Amino acid sequence: MTRKPWEHAKSSGSEHNELAARFVESLSYDTRLYRHDIAGSIAHARMLQEVGLITADELAAIEGGLGEIQQEIEAAGVTDWSGWEVELEDVHMCIEAALIAKIGEAGRKLHTGRSRNDQVATDLAMWTAEATSQVKSQLVDLISAFYELAERDGRIVMPSYTHLQRAQPIVLGGELVAWADAFGKCVNRLDALFILNDEMALGSGAIAGSSLPLDRRQTLRRLPLDSMSISAIASTASRDVAIDFVYALAMAAMWLSRWAEQWIIYMTSEFGFLAIGDDYTTGSSMMPQKRNPDMLELIRGRCGDVYGRLVALLTMCKGLTVGYNRDLQEDKRHVFAAFDTVMDCVAMAGGIVRSACFDESRIREKLDRGFLDATSLAEYLVTRGVPFRTAHQHVGSLVHHCIDEGIDQLAALSVDQMKQVSGCQAFDSDVFDWLGPDNVVTRYRTAGNAGLSGFEQRMRAWQAAHREER
Ligand code: ARG
Repeated sequence: MTRKPWEHAKSSGSEHNELAARFVESLSYDTRLYRHDIAGSIAHARMLQEVGLITADELAAIEGGLGEIQQEIEAAGVTDWSGWEVELEDVHMCIEAALIAKIGEAGRKLHTGRSRNDQVATDLAMWTAEATSQVKSQLVDLISAFYELAERDGRIVMPSYTHLQRAQPIVLGGELVAWADAFGKCVNRLDALFILNDEMALGSGAIAGSSLPLDRRQTLRRLPLDSMSISAIASTASRDVAIDFVYALAMAAMWLSRWAEQWIIYMTSEFGFLAIGDDYTTGSSMMPQKRNPDMLELIRGRCGDVYGRLVALLTMCKGLTVGYNRDLQEDKRHVFAAFDTVMDCVAMAGGIVRSACFDESRIREKLDRGFLDATSLAEYLVTRGVPFRTAHQHVGSLVHHCIDEGIDQLAALSVDQMKQVSGCQAFDSDVFDWLGPDNVVTRYRTAGNAGLSGFEQRMRAWQAAHREER
């Protein structure tokens, strides 16, 4: 005889084979869904009563029993509840078995018109909704950390880099706001992708729906989901909710990794731009002087784990026929792991940003290197009527001259030298207002610029939006 109440068509159940039982179970990771599973069951049971498939007394017994089970799970601690029996495979069957043990016959009616296939899809959608808002608030906290740092250190003038080569001067705040923007977009992406998947599958049954008069609208009314899935087959076959969520997490992990890489570089002795709190560096077991940016390196490293989960989910789905296949059970391992990793990394990033201190004097030491103001000089010529392509060539010849002569700043040339070396007569004494990083950062005027005006505008907007909280 099988212990599995749903395997009576067979002479033996997989729980008698230790390897098979261990192979098929998801209980070792799906107990996280217990609250969502119980909420879904209560909504389903109320609907069953409304359409006359169970009595009011049976509903009361089911609701009471499920309520007790939830309390027991919470009292014991989710992993330690005595009702988890791995032979029953998963969270759904354990809770149903515990309910039947508690209330008898009425409990045996709960699964009317329902399958684990629509149950698990609904549980996962509800779990993901909550997880989405947790990731979002963690990201919003990280964004605040960037703005707080920018509020203090944002006016420091520094080089920007393309190809990791010196590009144009910016203010630090311009760069900090750029990270905040990237993470802001991660928040919007989480929202947008969840809207696509904010669906209830309950009432789809195993694949085809049910011949019983289930009222899916009544079930939906009682759940924190937005709409009813429109196809019983598609909604039990799909794991779009998992894939979209993990994709959004992977994008956040990617931005975290890029940020970590940049700050690791800024922390090198060669750059010396940045120090972070001692909590977030480690020593070396051999080299006594070391302060290694291990937390940043681990943020960068764990991005690979999140990508792996995304690829695992996509690959898991690619060969499946349109209906439930047990492969889909694996979704939760990947979704939960990606969520845990990203939550930890975002929290860690927030701590690091709040501990960060930029070294203005070190940044300034070499600020005159790299001809950061060359583009500004070309734009000066544009304001004097020179076509940009021509201006670019003139400034190029000046840079070339400086390098040949061992001059490290364009501002060290006189107006006459500029005219003579470039052959362009458009230079005048006001050219010096366009040279030097401090001048350049005040000259940017395009919306969204990374100079002073762009940064200050963004800072004011953020301060205004957060005035009440501060
Ligand atoms: N634990 C399973 C899962 O996570 C439940 C679905 C099992 N369904 C089935 N038809 N065998 O997907």
